[in-house]
Amino acid sequence: MKLVKGGIAFFDSGIGGLTVLAECEKLFSKEIFYYYGDHSHAPYGNLSNRKIKKYVFRAFRLFKKLRVKAVVVACNTATAVCIESLRKKYKFPIIGAEPAVLAAAKQGGEVFVLSTRATYQSDRFQNLCKKARAKFPNTLIRTFACDGLAGAIEDNVENFENDFTEFFPKGNPTSVVLGCTHYIYIGRKIKNYYGCKIYDGNRGIALRLKTILEDNRQKNWDEQPPLRKKRAFLGFLTTFNSKKIAKGKKNKNTNECSRKMSKKALKYKEKGEKNTIFFFGKNRQKDVKIYEQMFVLG
Ligand code: DGL
Repeated sequence: MKLVKGGIAFFDSGIGGLTVLAECEKLFSKEIFYYYGDHSHAPYGNLSNRKIKKYVFRAFRLFKKLRVKAVVVACNTATAVCIESLRKKYKFPIIGAEPAVLAAAKQGGEVFVLSTRATYQSDRFQNLCKKARAKFPNTLIRTFACDGLAGAIEDNVENFENDFTEFFPKGNPTSVVLGCTHYIYIGRKIKNYYGCKIYDGNRGIALRLKTILEDNRQKNWDEQPPLRKKRAFLGFLTTFNSKKIAKGKKNKNTNECSRKMSKKALKYKEKGEKNTIFFFGKNRQKDVKIYEQMFVLG
């Protein structure tokens, strides 16, 4: 089975972005998706901004070669640290992940916003909270950097015994915002722990992606033919050798790491479903397994 270019790419440090992919997949059929979890460098939350940027831009070099029609940065941390610079550099639409602070703040009471430290420290996040506080002055918005939580989820997502409560800030909030896509895996545990409403931004991302692509299609309708004919594949899991991308010699900027990753790309397709997903990255087998267990079979 050949790698098909021209699809929609999803990026995260690890498994967190799979929650976003699952939500987006619901709105599409016969679509091509790429998932790249940067497990070699996860978790991102306590890395420097310089390192996070380096890793995210590396992934984007691969996406460019895949001639993506859009990229979803399914990671609040990567969005907080580098979405502006990504948008400056690349022409394709880039959709970010942002904590649903405004939606939660609108409901009033006391809002806990949980995120990684890099998100917590970012100007983007601080500005978002400032905006929410100004708009909803009667809501108390409290922000927390949950060091180690994303890593613990990354390592223990399949262990349902693990309660993760040591990472939860103490208190009695009216609502909790999950400001990291990894936290969505334990959304129910967090909900039970606090006994309150939980917010995440995944549905919003999916709708935004759909709208952007529809607008683009509308705009390009008379200008160019579709990039690639969409195909529905019957599914299986296989290793995939992307020779075309692996060669890539003509391009001076061809990235060694992208070549290795793309050689190891995996294609996943669940029988009977209409989308096709190609998985990239060092630990793509884990992504395939989690996706299958949590979102296809589960
Ligand atoms: N899932 C990511 C986020 O939304 C990254 C977590 C991490 O790697 O620390 O922030």
